[in-house]
Amino acid sequence: MNNVDMDAAKNHFANLIKQQLKRVESMKKEIDWVNYGSLSPIIIGICGGDGIGPFIAEQAQRVLGFLLKEEHDAEKVEFRIIEGLTIEKRAEVGKAIPDDVLEELKKCHVILKGPTTTPRKGDPWPNIESANVAMRKELDLFANVRPVKVAADGIDWIFFRENTEGAYALGSNGINVSDDLAIDFTVTTQQGSERIIRLAFEYAHKNNIDKVTLVTKANVVKTTDGKFLEIGYKIAKEYPEIDCDDWYIDIMTAKLIDPKRRTQFKVMALPNLYGDILTDEAAEFQGGVGTAGSANIGKQYAMFEAIHGSAPRMVDEGRAQYADPASMIRAAGMLVRHIGYEDGARKLEMALDICGQFEKKLTITGRSTGASGQEYADYIMDTLQNPELESKWSSFQNS
Ligand code: IPM
Ligand code: MG
Repeated sequence: MNNVDMDAAKNHFANLIKQQLKRVESMKKEIDWVNYGSLSPIIIGICGGDGIGPFIAEQAQRVLGFLLKEEHDAEKVEFRIIEGLTIEKRAEVGKAIPDDVLEELKKCHVILKGPTTTPRKGDPWPNIESANVAMRKELDLFANVRPVKVAADGIDWIFFRENTEGAYALGSNGINVSDDLAIDFTVTTQQGSERIIRLAFEYAHKNNIDKVTLVTKANVVKTTDGKFLEIGYKIAKEYPEIDCDDWYIDIMTAKLIDPKRRTQFKVMALPNLYGDILTDEAAEFQGGVGTAGSANIGKQYAMFEAIHGSAPRMVDEGRAQYADPASMIRAAGMLVRHIGYEDGARKLEMALDICGQFEKKLTITGRSTGASGQEYADYIMDTLQNPELESKWSSFQNS
């Protein structure tokens, strides 16, 4: 027991409990969902982020400007560039999100964000919290919604990943109790689980989807995952028309590659870390993480991003302009849908499918052997304007 400051460890834990109880109280407050229809203008913040972020964000912004041109001209939407969410600035002020940047972000209604570098022990940067994770917490973006579709393989999945709790809630607040003992914490709350699981069921209900799958490791992680699962089945009772089943994360990871099984999954609801892992695997079927977008939804704010990292190596090797902007463009499409422009979003999705999965007139290799991000964004916008867009897409779907 040498070198163990038991009181310090107990105090640390007591403080975490107090913090989390406070968070629970704030979740109990009834807040209405923002009504984008009543906002004029809708302010869309754009943060480039780190590494390839500014390169792919620029392409996504072009597509966004193209889709919302009329609304922008009519001053119904405003684009606002938010500077300073860079690893250099974050390292300088020692914060995951510098205060002035957070203030600017809070003045926006929705945000399109490029990937940000997440430091880890041993990096040249101070080991500060991830900007993504901090933004999800600060803006209470509790639902991480990640669709993956591969029509040719019958895959049509949508993941509802809990986004503010689980292993992430206190991911930067573990304790090194002694040189020998390190402890991290995972957090599950009644309110946090209910709101994400309910959103998954509501989505299934509204879209006539007859199945929701809960993914946990409740056989081993009994207290927190056990709670998530129990709440899941309790909510399922409110939706008798929807079949609810549950899988453990390990076998679920395997079943996603089983061609007979995987097409049976539709809507998945899962705690934070499992959602992080499973959605990377899922995106691989669609062409890789470079093709998948991610919506981080809260009642007051929403943020849209690529699901991948900032790929600093591509910048170091001078090939950032060849980074695949598809994930960010997909995220831009999700943003457009979220603020109420369903038609534009649907067309953009069709164009992304045509360019990325069927026609493939241009390929992205990440190097000068393939198309640049700018060329690829042009290809998507050309496809989007093609009067044959819908019929082309339908014929590809049925081929
Ligand atoms: C994601 C990313 C982030 C996460 C990282 C960058 C912190 O992997 O959005 O899936 O773990 O959530
Ligand atoms: Mg991830």
